[in-house]
Amino acid sequence: MAESDKDPMQQVEAAREAFEREFERFVRFTGDSANLTLGLSEAEAELRAVAELGTRYTGKKSAIAACKKLIGRVPAGERAAFGQLVQQTEAAMSSALDQVQERLKAFINTARGERETVDLTIPGRRPRPGHLHPITLMRERIEDIFVSLGYAVEDDREIETDFYNFDALNVPEGHPARDPQDTFYTTDGFALRSQTSTVQIHAMQRRGAPVRMIAPGRVFRRDTPDPTHNPMFFQVEGLCVDRGITMAHLKGTLAEFVHRLFGPETRTRFRPSYFPFTEPSAEVDYSCFNCGGKGCRICKGSGWIELGGSGMVHPNVLRAANVNPEEFTGFAFGLGIDRTCARIYQLDDIRLLFENDVRFLEQFR
Ligand code: FA5
Repeated sequence: MAESDKDPMQQVEAAREAFEREFERFVRFTGDSANLTLGLSEAEAELRAVAELGTRYTGKKSAIAACKKLIGRVPAGERAAFGQLVQQTEAAMSSALDQVQERLKAFINTARGERETVDLTIPGRRPRPGHLHPITLMRERIEDIFVSLGYAVEDDREIETDFYNFDALNVPEGHPARDPQDTFYTTDGFALRSQTSTVQIHAMQRRGAPVRMIAPGRVFRRDTPDPTHNPMFFQVEGLCVDRGITMAHLKGTLAEFVHRLFGPETRTRFRPSYFPFTEPSAEVDYSCFNCGGKGCRICKGSGWIELGGSGMVHPNVLRAANVNPEEFTGFAFGLGIDRTCARIYQLDDIRLLFENDVRFLEQFR
């Protein structure tokens, strides 16, 4: 017999029985929620299931809603009793469902509260403070020494014209000294500077003479990377131009510099050399800070470590920067920061400085 052909009373009874059968599994939630033994996600799933049961048995398309529509078809004498039965059945279902939902919601709230409680005894996360890169530490040590000797610190551009990188430094086009300093070029004729000597010209043009400055900064060369070469590295340029400046001032200044950097017992050595922008020119070495000159692993057995190039500023360079070489003389030097840094921290390979491995870098403070 189809459901709609049944006696209306029987239909209500069938809806009640079906509900009770399905509701059976939720009966355990009608007791004390504090005694429930289930997890939070299980309780959340049960809450969704009981809501779905409510929709099926008391919603618009439920059997009980269909029964309500039968009220008009019931004989007048039985109508009131039938209406009451439908209402009571629906109310009983809703009340049972509400009870379960309330219990489950209370349980879920308590369980969430417990889960989200802050445990004040858990140790905090230790902040990792940042620190300076070893090249920066080295540069700052060098700057501090020269600033205390009365030098200004210049910062200048890394992209240059040929004029500043070569011509003004007495290296005209075709000069063989351009080869070892071959660099990287932009498509519109600019070059990444291959040495900080470019700042000599800018500084003299800006400040005129007398001038005393250092210029630390990044330089670029087409050098193949190896333990002592990188295509990008750091130099610090020094320039002192005044009336009556001699080679003795250069030697005294660099001797004082190494005393302050490595200790008063450190000696300097000047070897004749050639740079187009200085005349005379010299390579500067200092006695090894580790063995004092006896020879060790750090100085590769020679007792001496190379600091950089130096010399008396060539008159052509002074002229290119509009300084009168009849009135002024000066000295200049250029030191490699990376290699000095590697020596001081006893690194076998300057490439380590730019691999950006934090485990390596954080050792230097
Ligand atoms: C020069 O660059 C001159 N401008 C120095 C100078 C300035 C001389 C003023 C006279 C007056 P040189 O090419 O030797 O010189 O380089 C100087 C230092 O840069 C070297 O001693 C070395 O420490 C460093 N250096 C050179 N090439 C590299 C490289 N590829 N990687 C790392 N460091 C380098």
